[in-house]
Amino acid sequence: MRKITIAIDGYSSTGKSTVAKQLADYLGYVYVDTGAMYRAVTLFAMENDIISKDHFNVKELKSALPSIDLKFKKADNWKKAHIFLNGKDVENSIRNLNVSEFVSPIATIHEVRHKLVSQQQQMGEEKGVVMDGRDIGTVVFPNAELKIFMNASAQERAQRRYKELIERGENVTYNSVLKNIQERDHLDTTRQDSPLVKAIDAIEIDNSEMNIEDQFHTVLQLAQDRIAGRV
Ligand code: DC
Repeated sequence: MRKITIAIDGYSSTGKSTVAKQLADYLGYVYVDTGAMYRAVTLFAMENDIISKDHFNVKELKSALPSIDLKFKKADNWKKAHIFLNGKDVENSIRNLNVSEFVSPIATIHEVRHKLVSQQQQMGEEKGVVMDGRDIGTVVFPNAELKIFMNASAQERAQRRYKELIERGENVTYNSVLKNIQERDHLDTTRQDSPLVKAIDAIEIDNSEMNIEDQFHTVLQLAQDRIAGRV
C-alpha cells in the first residue's frame, strides 16, 4: 500500500500528539513530535544560561546550535520514542511548565527553525510519517498528502493540560496554565518566521466537544481515504 505524509498542526495542547501517535501506531508509520525538538533546544538554552526570566542571549544560542544534537530513540517498553539531547534522555524534563514558558521565544529564532526543519525533512524523506507541530503543513511538508489543523477553546485546552500536569505531580494552578497557553498562542501566531497558520488545504478539526476515540476515528477515516486515493 502506498505510504503518505501526514501533517498535524494546531494550537498548543489541542491533543495533536495523542492523535498523531495513535494514527502512526495504527498505520505502522513513524511518529515525529516536533514540539519536543523545540523544547529540547529550550532546555539546552536554560541549562547553559542562555535564557532565563530576565535575559535571552540570542547570539550565544545561534553560535551554540552546531553543538546541539537531537535524536529520537525508542525502546520496546516505551509507548513512544524519547528525545535525546546530546546523548541524554530529556523526554520528561522538557514537559514541565518552565520549559513551556521559554519555548515560544526560542522558536521565533530563524536559525533554530532552519536547523530543526532540515532535520524534520530528513526524517520524513521516505514518507510513512505522521508529524505534529505548528508549521508542518505550511513549511516542513507543504506537499503532504493529508494536512490536519487541530483547534479547541483555550479554556478547554488549559483544563486538559492542567489535569495532565497535576497527574504528573507538578505544582501548578489552572490560571497559570491558561495564561501560558494564551501567551504561547499569541507568540506562535504572530512570530515573523513560519507563524502558526492553517494551510489552505488543511482540514480543520475542533475537538472541544470530541473525545479521544471520536477524534481518532475522524482522522483515521481521512487518512485511509487519502492512502486509497479516494479523495
Ligand atoms: O507542541 P508543543 O506544545 O510541545 O510545542 C512547544 C512549542 O514549540 C510551541 O509553543 C511552539 C514551538 N513549535 C514550533 O514553533 N514549531 C513546531 N513545528 C513545533 C513546536
